[in-house]
Amino acid sequence: MDQHIIRLSPLGKELTVNHNTPMMDVLHGFGIEFPCGGKGTCGKCKIKILAGHLEMTAPHREKILKLGLDDSWRLACLSRATEDVTIQVAQFEALILADDTKFDFIPQNGYGIAVDVGTTTLVAQLVDLTTASVLAVETMLNPQVKYGADLISRIQKDLEGHGAQMTDLIQNAIGGMLEKLMAQQPVNVKRVVLVGNTAMQRTFVGLSLNPLSCYPFQVADLGAKTFPVNDLGWKIDVEEPVCFYPSIGSFVGSDILAGIAATGIHRHEKMTALIDLGTNGEIVLGNRHGMVCASTAAGPAFEGANISMGMRAVTGAISSITTDQTPWSLQVIGNEKARGICGSGLIDAMAIFREQELIGSFGDITTGEESISLDEVVVLTQKDINEFQLAKAALAAGLTILASELSITTAEIDEIVIAGAFGNYIHIGNMVATGMVEAQEEKIHKMGNTALIGAKMFLFSGPGLADEICTKIRHVNLEANRDFQDIYVDKMLFP
Ligand code: FES
Repeated sequence: MDQHIIRLSPLGKELTVNHNTPMMDVLHGFGIEFPCGGKGTCGKCKIKILAGHLEMTAPHREKILKLGLDDSWRLACLSRATEDVTIQVAQFEALILADDTKFDFIPQNGYGIAVDVGTTTLVAQLVDLTTASVLAVETMLNPQVKYGADLISRIQKDLEGHGAQMTDLIQNAIGGMLEKLMAQQPVNVKRVVLVGNTAMQRTFVGLSLNPLSCYPFQVADLGAKTFPVNDLGWKIDVEEPVCFYPSIGSFVGSDILAGIAATGIHRHEKMTALIDLGTNGEIVLGNRHGMVCASTAAGPAFEGANISMGMRAVTGAISSITTDQTPWSLQVIGNEKARGICGSGLIDAMAIFREQELIGSFGDITTGEESISLDEVVVLTQKDINEFQLAKAALAAGLTILASELSITTAEIDEIVIAGAFGNYIHIGNMVATGMVEAQEEKIHKMGNTALIGAKMFLFSGPGLADEICTKIRHVNLEANRDFQDIYVDKMLFP
């Protein structure tokens, strides 16, 4: 064959290239960096094969082994297109949200499928329960995005009578992904675990989102939901009923429950916070003696909502801003012309605007203009800056109130784990500089898709692990705290 198709998952990009084209040439145009110049020594250009094949020479294999990777991985700088292939690029991890983090497990026979049902992205992994290794991965955009990108729009559509269509869409999409997994690896699946926020659980199950639409936002039936696979109409066999894991609160779902499992907060002595910058900006704080959790209104701004040129972390989004050039240099996902800005870029912009005194501590643009231009296309308006302040204040106030619920101060938190879609792009220093997270930089680290890691752990643990977490955690309504308004207003200031 003279030409081959290269698919970049889940960017949805498909390229046709000539036989033997170096993958370095293919990926260069997407902003992928090759720090060692393609010598195969830094490992930074690693790519994972999701379908198809890329040939590997013996020295290439040696380098892959040395990096501790399995043979589904390649170094792009040493690979050429020799047949159709679908790849996941490690430098785009924040977009892909698939994960191959190692975790402790007790081996058992059979296979399981873990599914992270995100508001934006769906990820399913087929796992060998004897080794915990991932045999196949499927990712896709949540087809419910046609009813709106964020949860508020979905809730609205549910109230307008589109609930049944949203249920069909999500059930069929996940069923289709599972069928594709089984087509790649025809094995007998023992169990399927789904995790997601409370709205995703309810819409998957076919329950109304009405309780999430109005005060007091109380959802009565937060528990696990199970279905024999036949009831879902999926054309696969699964030994046990499919289980969507329980939510902790109205806006703290089983994705956070899974995140707690992944981080192990519930078993550690050290006081740890988990901050998920997904849709709701959920926070968990505690240790093995007890945990509290809450959702904040921080999420939407970091997903691009409410920001005039905001967008998700996809091709064309400014994902990172640095000051290695004057006044700054922009990194755009996919190395394309910038069309907008995503959450991580927004945080960088705010930190740099403050550093360069373009905005004051109240967030006011000091030049008196209505906006600040990042380049000839993308601007941030005064309103955008104020939206960022509302979001970062919600997060900082949330952590402060949760700490007070445990009778500690935020200074006594030992570790802060950042999870979420764009976590990998975030400059932690800038989170601290904007006052979004008030802690020393060295206490904060990123952990990627903790929901998916936890869902895989649930494949091994059965309900026991989730039950253990649920008995140790308490959901807190932040706004019911009498100091909330004062703390919230205070946190709107830039440090
Ligand atoms: S660029 Fe360094 S290993 Fe490929």
